[in-house]
Amino acid sequence: MHNAGRSSEPAVLADIYKEDTNIAIWRRQLSEPLQHIVSDFVDSRKQPYLSCIVTPNDARSVIRDGLGSSSFTELGEDISELVDMFCYLFDLSRAGLRLTVLRETLCPKFHVDHVPCRMVTTYLGVATEWLPHHLVNRERLGLASTGQSDQESGIYSSTDHIQSMACGDVALLKGETWQGNQDAGLVHRSPAVSPGQSRLLLTLDFGN
Ligand SMILES: [Fe+2]
Repeated sequence: MHNAGRSSEPAVLADIYKEDTNIAIWRRQLSEPLQHIVSDFVDSRKQPYLSCIVTPNDARSVIRDGLGSSSFTELGEDISELVDMFCYLFDLSRAGLRLTVLRETLCPKFHVDHVPCRMVTTYLGVATEWLPHHLVNRERLGLASTGQSDQESGIYSSTDHIQSMACGDVALLKGETWQGNQDAGLVHRSPAVSPGQSRLLLTLDFGN
């Protein structure tokens, strides 16, 4: 049985090292000024992606340049702090950063990531959904679902089992390539975005 670590203390992120844990969630709420900056950023953003490799040393300047305006300094600071935490926790010299504005309704399906571990946070809009390990029918993952939607495929037996992160929460999602975690990567999906709504999603990956 795999567990989920959840707390309003950032130290909970270290729970991801526990063998029986495939998600750790630091629950937090964005300050009101930061929420305003985030929505200004999303409104101003023409390109859907900001994608770069950062080190703990250059993250602040690379992100500042990537955001493109000093009005977004607080958002850049918040992202830089997460880069610091992520690199420190996994002893990484660099991280792959992707900041994505999602404006369309997608039909996302539950899946696992083929990475060791990914940090995910939603700065705006509906946040990532996931399934507790013991409630997933893994035989229905990926190609086995033969083109059926999550609702039809039988990957979960009840919609009550679907867990949602909240906007602002910072999570570590353990993937399939974490040593010893094969067939236990966290099953998750992006929620559908309603028409007229946007999401701002940050992911951090182990840099090469
Ligand atoms: Fe994913």
